[in-house]
Amino acid sequence: MRLGILTSGGDCAGLNAVIRAVVLRAARGYGFEVVGIHEATDGLLQRPIAATVLTTESVRGILFQGGTILRTTNRGNPFSYPTPDGPRDRSQEVLEGYRALGLDALIGVGGDGSLAILRRLAVLGGWNLVGIPKTIDNDLGHTEHAVGFNTAVAVATEAVDRLHVTAASHNRVMVLEVMGRDAGHIALTAGVAGGADVILIPEIPYDIDKVCAKIEERRQMGRNFSLVVVAESVRSVSGEVSTWADAHGSVRYGGIGRLIADEIARRTGAETRVTILGHVQRGGSPVPLDRVIGSAFGVAAVDLVAQGRFDRMVAWRNRRVVDVPLAEAVASCQRVDPDDTLVHTARGLGISFGD
Ligand code: F6P
Repeated sequence: MRLGILTSGGDCAGLNAVIRAVVLRAARGYGFEVVGIHEATDGLLQRPIAATVLTTESVRGILFQGGTILRTTNRGNPFSYPTPDGPRDRSQEVLEGYRALGLDALIGVGGDGSLAILRRLAVLGGWNLVGIPKTIDNDLGHTEHAVGFNTAVAVATEAVDRLHVTAASHNRVMVLEVMGRDAGHIALTAGVAGGADVILIPEIPYDIDKVCAKIEERRQMGRNFSLVVVAESVRSVSGEVSTWADAHGSVRYGGIGRLIADEIARRTGAETRVTILGHVQRGGSPVPLDRVIGSAFGVAAVDLVAQGRFDRMVAWRNRRVVDVPLAEAVASCQRVDPDDTLVHTARGLGISFGD
């Protein structure tokens, strides 16, 4: 059996733990050969194809390393591949590349977007595909954890902790903008873990008057500083969001924290400062949970291949690895449920969502 593996979409901490687990399980458990494809499906577009055989030797020492030794891209959708002359369908070239590698099965590590693309290719090309969920946004359906989320939360929580002391020293309102795309999981979890005063998430539209009221309430109690954690795609009750187009024309989030901080300063007279945490949430060494979940997913995905059970995604539920239909997982986006336990917890602690 010749088994391929690729990492696709934005990187995150824990991908190397997955790769290592796949190689170890494949080699030691089943005697399968593993081929690592470079830069997601971009590796299959290159001629010669960018792929290398991975051995237990080549994955030695990578468990605690951030990033992905296979590299990745989140701009390489082969069905709409960016070229200077506009998007082009290069899916047939990817299928040719895959055929040339002579693989019996593929393990794709990705978020909802990249797993959906891989599945589309698998259907077209008759690939035997197993998916492993990774995304700091944690917005994939049917799994409680995706690889990378817990590290991103740890980084964001540390940022809240660090901002806390400097906010208190200067009597400032500190606004921390975190990633998460259209889901507020990072903001909510790090906000609760760090003891934020206000958490703004896209699932609960905020009213800036209510945010300012919370800051005033704290002042009345003699607390002259506040911590506001903002998810990058948050929107106000009047629908205000902050997006911008980059040099490649892609619409991106980022910057809403600045608008909110300015508005708080204008309305309350508070001195505000903004931190946009950005890609530090994706880099660095994975926290233990991401190493453990990544390892468990890697082993389970190879087991599925060995059992001939394809078109499935491994998932984490109730302290176990289970597997679910890949099509269902990529079709169900898991945003924060406003009735979620963590939302209830935050409200119980007196944290405002600006609603
Ligand atoms: O999906 C992961 C993520 O980090 C989002 O939270 C963020 O909006 C986006 O990717 C950033 O993408 P890029 O790596 O292209 O800047």
